[in-house]
Amino acid sequence: MQSVKEAGAPAILTVQGLNKSYSSGPILKDISFRISKGEFIVIHGESGSGKSTLLHLLAGFDRADSGKILFGEFDICKMNESQRARFRRDHVGFVFQQFHLLPELTALENVMMPLLFQKVKIKKAKEQAEKYLFYVGLEDRMNHTPEQLSGGQNQRVAIARALIGSAPVIFADEPTGNLDSKNRAEILELLQKINREKSTTIMMVTHSIEERSIADRVIELRDGVIV
Ligand SMILES: Nc1ncnc2c1ncn2[C@@H]1O[C@H](COP(=O)(O)OP(=O)(O)O)[C@@H](O)[C@H]1O
Ligand SMILES: [Mg+2]
Repeated sequence: MQSVKEAGAPAILTVQGLNKSYSSGPILKDISFRISKGEFIVIHGESGSGKSTLLHLLAGFDRADSGKILFGEFDICKMNESQRARFRRDHVGFVFQQFHLLPELTALENVMMPLLFQKVKIKKAKEQAEKYLFYVGLEDRMNHTPEQLSGGQNQRVAIARALIGSAPVIFADEPTGNLDSKNRAEILELLQKINREKSTTIMMVTHSIEERSIADRVIELRDGVIV
C-alpha cells in the first residue's frame, strides 16, 4: 500500500546495508529502507525472522555489525554506549510485548520516569504524566500498580510512558502479543489515534497477518532479509 503520507514527506529514518550476527550466525542481512515522518509502518515476519533484533538496533538498544541507521544527520551506528543511551532517552519511545513496567510503582509514577531521567521537575513530570494517562483513557487508574491493572490497561500505561518524552518515533514490539482480542483491537486503535493526532511515526512489529492491515506500509522480513 502506497501511503499519502509517504509522498514528499522528509525521511525521519534511513537504514542502509544493516548487518547483525550472533554466535548462531547472521540474523539481519543487508537491510535497507527509508521511513517518512508520520508513517505507520508494520514490520511483519514469522517468529525468528529477526524482527526484534531489527527494532532493538533501530531504537539504539543494541549495536549493528555494519551499516547505517540515520535519524536526520545522526548515525546511531557511530555512537558509543553513552551517546546511544542519551539518544534513547531523548528520541525513542519503546513499547514491549511484556509491558516492562516497574511493579512497585503506580501507573502515574511509571509514566513519570522518562521525564525524571530528563531531569524535569517532579511537579511538571506529574502534570505531564496525568495528561498522558488521560489521553490513553486511564484517568481513573493513575494510582494503581501494574498488578492491579489488566493487560490492556498496563499496555496503555506503557504507551503513555513511550509518549511522554515527545519522541518523534515510537517502536512497538508485538504490543498486542499478550492481550485478548478485545484489548488487542483497542491497543491497535490507540496506536492509530496517536499516529493520526500527534503525527508520531510508528514502527510496530507483529507476526500477525491481520495486523498488517493497519499500516500505511508493511516491511516484510523473512530470515533476516526484506522481501
Ligand atoms: N542475543 C541473542 N543471541 C543469540 N541469538 C539471538 C539473540 N537474539 C536473537 N537471536 C536469534 O536471532 C534470530 C531472530 O530473533 P528475533 O530477532 O528475536 O526474531 P523475531 O523477533 O522475529 O521472532 C533467532 O534465531 C534468535 O534465536
Ligand atoms: Mg520478537
